[in-house]
Amino acid sequence: MKQSTLHQLKVFEAVARHNSFTRAAEELFLTQPTVSMQVKQLTKAVGMPLFDQVGKRLYLTQAGEELVKTCRTIFEHLDQFEMSVADLKGLKQGRLRLAVITTAKYFVPRLLGPFCHRYPGIDISLQVTNHEHILNRMSDNLDDLYVMSQLPEHLDIISRRIIENPLVVIAPANHPLANEKNISLQLMGNEPFIMREPGSGTRKAVQELFEEHKIPLKVQLDLGSNEAIKQAIAGGLGISILSRHTLALEGSSSQLTILDVEKFPIERYWYAAYPSGKQLSIVARTFLDYLMTEGKELAEKNAARTIPGVSQFSLGDSSSQGKDGN
Ligand code: PGA
Repeated sequence: MKQSTLHQLKVFEAVARHNSFTRAAEELFLTQPTVSMQVKQLTKAVGMPLFDQVGKRLYLTQAGEELVKTCRTIFEHLDQFEMSVADLKGLKQGRLRLAVITTAKYFVPRLLGPFCHRYPGIDISLQVTNHEHILNRMSDNLDDLYVMSQLPEHLDIISRRIIENPLVVIAPANHPLANEKNISLQLMGNEPFIMREPGSGTRKAVQELFEEHKIPLKVQLDLGSNEAIKQAIAGGLGISILSRHTLALEGSSSQLTILDVEKFPIERYWYAAYPSGKQLSIVARTFLDYLMTEGKELAEKNAARTIPGVSQFSLGDSSSQGKDGN
C-alpha cells in the first residue's frame, strides 16, 4: 500500500462514489483507460479485489468498503490541514461541502452570496436532495454540514435549529375551499392528492398525520420535485402538502393558494446538523457561525418578504442547540 499514490486513492474513491469508471473519469477529466489502470495498480498493491463486477454493475468488496472509508478520512484530514495552514496565514480558505434538503434550496443559496463575498477563498459545493438521500450521505460522511428538517433518530448527530419550515395545504387559487376557514381534515380525503416521492421527509410527515387520523388520501400522482408539484396543482391535477417556503417568489398573482385546514400548518424547523463524531473543519465552522447569526436573520427577512402570509406567523425561536435539536 505504501507504493500507492494519493492520486490512485482519489481515482478509486470517485469510482466507488459513482459506482462507475466512466463517471469517475468524467469527474476527474481523465480517460476511462487511465482510471481503470489506476484502480488496477491500487488493487495489486492491496492484494485483494476492490470491486466485484456483476453484469454491468460494480459492487465494492469488503476490502473496497474499508478502503473507501480510509480514503475519506485521509482526504478529510488533508483538507483540514490545508485549512489550518491558511488560517495560520490569516486566511479562510478551502472547500465547504454542503448537502441540503429540497426545501432549503429556497433559502441556503441566497445566503451563500454574502458569505462568498466575505470569504473569497472558500469554494462551495451544494447538493440538494431529499431526506433519505441526506441520511445516506451523512452515513457515508460525504459532506461537512447538512441542512435538514426531520432529525434522524438512529444517527448520533449535533444539530442547531435555524428557522421554521412549516408544511401547508396548497391548492389552485380558484379552489372551491379557497376562502373557507378551519376546513375539516376529513375533507382532504376527498381531494385528488399529489404526493412527494418515497424517501421524502414531506411525504413521511403527511402520511403520519393522515394515518394518525385514519383518513385515507386519494393519491393521484407521486412527483419527485416540489416545483413539479406546484405546476401540477396549478394545472388542476389536485392539491398537495408542501413547505410554505416553496411559495417564495410566487407573488400576489400566484395561481396557488394556501388552504386553511385544521391541524395545519404542520410545525417543522430546519436544522444545521452533522454527525456527532465529526470534527468540523475551520471552513465548516465559519459557515455554521455565519448561518446561525447573519444567515438566519437574512432567511427570516427573506421569508417575511417573499412568502404569502408568512409575517402572520412567528418564525420560531432558533436559539436551541444540542444533540436533540429541540
Ligand atoms: P423532502 O424534505 O425533500 O425529503 O420532502 C423537505 C423538508 O424536510 O423540508
